[in-house]
Amino acid sequence: MTLEESIRRRRSLYPKQMSGEKVPIEVLEKMLEMANWAPTHLNTEPWRFKVFAEEDKDRLLDHCKNSYVVQTPAALFNHTKIEKLEERKKQVSHIIVICMQRNNLIPEFEEIAATAMAVQNMWLYLTKTLKYGGYWSTPAYALDSDFAAFLHLSESERCLGLFYVGTRSLESIESKGQRGEWAKKVSFYPNKQSKN
Ligand SMILES: Cc1cc2nc3c(=O)[nH]c(=O)nc-3n(C[C@H](O)[C@H](O)[C@H](O)COP(=O)(O)O)c2cc1C
Repeated sequence: MTLEESIRRRRSLYPKQMSGEKVPIEVLEKMLEMANWAPTHLNTEPWRFKVFAEEDKDRLLDHCKNSYVVQTPAALFNHTKIEKLEERKKQVSHIIVICMQRNNLIPEFEEIAATAMAVQNMWLYLTKTLKYGGYWSTPAYALDSDFAAFLHLSESERCLGLFYVGTRSLESIESKGQRGEWAKKVSFYPNKQSKN
């Protein structure tokens, strides 16, 4: 697969599209090695990943369920969210908690950006396997101090969400994805049109 194909075919693979088949540890390790090649200002390498599998993954999902119950106002509470989190125990192979190690040498946004680029590397690597995929989830409860305490994060570490990793189920249809026109988001200086 060419780089252009990998970029175009990288899609979120949602838990309901995962078969439950385990992703081999070699694939997971290669994916994490690729993450480690993200660019980073001042070489702070701020990405930190906590990999949850098997009963620890289930324990993490139970914590997600409890957090959702405790934190969601009654008027917004949706019981299907709890059912979906429970189903993930069977669908998902691994959950990678995406963390960022804060370093006061550079602005925080640069460390978030570097961590996001590390996630993109993982995502592109999974795309190339044609079999495995992932999805970045950022529920409010995963970003708060209670979740940080559950993960034993240090004061300088921050959770940026969960990356669910799994095997594409045979029935799942590969989404083509949708994007607005790139040219509408880009300005050229000098203006390309005025040059003609
Ligand atoms: C930083 C980030 C956070 C995201 N958080 C969520 C989320 O909480 N829930 C969700 O359904 N999708 C989430 N997504 C996935 C996006 O919905 C998805 O990337 C987008 O719809 C484009 O689809 P694609 O990834 O298949 O191209 C997130 C993606 C990114 C990059």
